[in-house]
Amino acid sequence: MSRLLPPLLFLLLSAPMALAQNKALNAPPKSGQCTACHGRDGQSVSPVNPILRCQHQAYLVSALNAYRNGNRKHPIMNAMANSLQPKDIQALAVWYANQPGCKP
Ligand code: HEC
Repeated sequence: MSRLLPPLLFLLLSAPMALAQNKALNAPPKSGQCTACHGRDGQSVSPVNPILRCQHQAYLVSALNAYRNGNRKHPIMNAMANSLQPKDIQALAVWYANQPGCKP
């Protein structure tokens, strides 16, 4: 039994962590519309398109809201943000702000 204890403990402790990580890693449905320019995880490879990965969540929400209500003008992003609901904006901001390796 004592030999079984460490692996059992490992399983017990790692399962919730794996679940929590998987939860954080589910791409929101609308993120597919952003991948071509910003990369799947927000790590854009072109200097024309900003990197969103590890950006502050609140900044992402406010930038997308500004595109959506027209306070920030950029034809592509105004159109993109207009197709998003507030819940989409929230989910996208959580996704890009919480990629693996981002500081808490
Ligand atoms: C066709 C390319 C393209 C697509 C598709 C696109 N973006 Fe963008 N995005 C840009 C460009 C270019 C900018 C910089 C615009 C500017 O100068 O304001 C930008 C800016 C942003 C910013 C502001 C970044 C900052 O640092 O201020 C956010 C947030 C953002 N995009 C999120 C998204 C999301 C979320 C999607 C998908 C729903 C998306 N974008 C789809 C090209 C794109």
